[in-house]
Amino acid sequence: MPLNIVRNDITNMKVDAIVNAANPSLLGGGGVDGAIHRAAGAELLAECKTLGGCETGHAKITGAYHLPCRYVIHTVGPRWLGGKSNEKALLASCYLQSLALAKEHNCETVAFPLISSGVYGYPKDQALKVAVDAISGFLLENEMTVYLVIFDRASHTISEKLFSDIAEYIDDRYADEHADRRREPIRMNALSLMAPRIKSKKADEDFLDACGAAAMPAEDDLKAKLKLLDESFSQMLLRKIDEKGMTDAACYKKANIDRKLFSKIRSDVHYKPSKPTALAFAIALELSLEETEDLLRKAGFALSHSSKFDIIIEYFIEKGNYNIFEINEALFAFDQSLLGA
Ligand code: APR
Repeated sequence: MPLNIVRNDITNMKVDAIVNAANPSLLGGGGVDGAIHRAAGAELLAECKTLGGCETGHAKITGAYHLPCRYVIHTVGPRWLGGKSNEKALLASCYLQSLALAKEHNCETVAFPLISSGVYGYPKDQALKVAVDAISGFLLENEMTVYLVIFDRASHTISEKLFSDIAEYIDDRYADEHADRRREPIRMNALSLMAPRIKSKKADEDFLDACGAAAMPAEDDLKAKLKLLDESFSQMLLRKIDEKGMTDAACYKKANIDRKLFSKIRSDVHYKPSKPTALAFAIALELSLEETEDLLRKAGFALSHSSKFDIIIEYFIEKGNYNIFEINEALFAFDQSLLGA
């Protein structure tokens, strides 16, 4: 998954480069700066002393010494002065300059802390949004896996309103799955029985009505619909990509899925993806709830109100918000696994 939001101590991250939220002197400090220097050892400071400092919004790279990574990229975030001193652009520049340096050094994996959201006082939810927007913009054009490392729960807050909206939506639907399950097998059995039983048109229409499916106006329409029933997940996905006028790359990047997984799905007509992967494509394709359920069914899954993960996805689809990074922030806030590979 190209962008992951994880809760960890960045000094533990086994990636090609970790990013340090430094100050202009680059001579160490508190917070993540202090943690990185402590874990790297004295050689890091010795190298930093040769760099001549760093301007806000810019980034410089050093070795990582005793850290489990190859590089440390030091960037200096803006102090929060109320939001009218170009803080947002400077903060975005920290991410973009750091990513450019990582790319220059052929890094495939990079881990960021939430820059400026500690000592420098940048409001955490705004700092998170700037980070996610800057990183996801870079990932649309570049192949890299980026981790946004949230050190403590307090650092990760989606907007209070969104959080309470989703919590309320879950409460309304987080029902006993019994009702859902009872309905689901009947409908699935009916659909699976439908294909072999269809002989005459009249009987078929009566049977389809009984299954709750719309009556088919013509034989060829029936054949077309039956053909879609046999369609695999991979076939339906590729058909939907074409129907939406998207390129494969635009779709899997928007789904926060890496290229390797997509080519596996593309080349194996019977490939069965995980549920989060199937849902990630439904979001990337901006499918309706019904289309999403059809695509999920092809992968052998169904949305269920016994799963908070499913309900959160349903919430965003109902709201017409298909921003997978915002959805992942919400899933993360509710301790759910994230969308994507
Ligand atoms: N791993 C990951 N994230 C961490 C860690 C850690 N070990 N320690 C702190 N953080 C998080 C904080 O919770 C915060 O969300 O890093 C984010 C950035 O906080 P700071 O480290 O305070 O950095 P910043 O707000 O950018 O202020 C920079 O603080 O440490 C000094 O020398 C630094 O003067 C500079 C200023």
